[in-house]
Amino acid sequence: MQLEDRIKACLQHEVPKHMAIIMDGNGRWAKKRGLPRIAGHHEGMKMVRKATKLANRLGIDVLTLYAFSTENWTRPKPEVEYIMKLPEQFLTTYLPELVEENVKVDMMGTKDRLPFHTKVAIEKAMEDTKENNGLLLNFALNYGSRSELICAMQQMLRDHEQGVFNAHQVDEDTFRSYLLKPDLPDPDLLIRTSGEIRLSNFMLWQLAYTEFYFTDVLWPDFTEEHFVEAVEAYQKRSRRYGGVRNDGG
Ligand code: FPP
Repeated sequence: MQLEDRIKACLQHEVPKHMAIIMDGNGRWAKKRGLPRIAGHHEGMKMVRKATKLANRLGIDVLTLYAFSTENWTRPKPEVEYIMKLPEQFLTTYLPELVEENVKVDMMGTKDRLPFHTKVAIEKAMEDTKENNGLLLNFALNYGSRSELICAMQQMLRDHEQGVFNAHQVDEDTFRSYLLKPDLPDPDLLIRTSGEIRLSNFMLWQLAYTEFYFTDVLWPDFTEEHFVEAVEAYQKRSRRYGGVRNDGG
């Protein structure tokens, strides 16, 4: 079936409300071609645009993209500097298009360690798209789940000391309210490209009931067809959240 028909077919069924992607394999994509690793990141950025457009078309509410982890700072400095230029490059080129397509840009992670130019680019995009109510494009940038959980715990302990709540009042909703994006629904579908089958410190709390989709395709090679294939696979899954289906299955 042609891509357009497959997209139309996907639209007849429930699409994930929140889709998250660990965009992996940029380095290997470049190495295979005898190119520097940064060429892979540059190529990966192009797929970010395509994934955003397609997610928006499919009526997905939130697309979270793992662009840089708290552990990625250990990479060689030139590579880190290059990746930190990508949000600026991407947003300078595509911000008008995002505005026009009603996409709202957001960021999940700690801004304090980001270079000034990266922060400015993200903040401008957030400001320029704040009234939009189409797809929420959520860049996980300088994000690490353990750090998010520890920060949540620290703030909870401070609030507990202030008498904001008692220990027995803490439930899942209370805990969630201390996370970085408490208002986002949990991801329904997580995609990881490049054949790696691990979470790498990504949204450990939020992925509790998420459907996982792992593919060997490297992120820069991940086309619209692959994206639709992941959604089709999701639509065939039976989500039970620890219970049983109505038909007892
Ligand atoms: C992982 O591949 C990829 C990253 C750490 C960077 C991801 C960034 C992008 C795809 C571009 C982001 C674009 C914007 C607009 C923020 P890897 O380098 O670990 O690949 P490897 O495992 O093959 O070495």
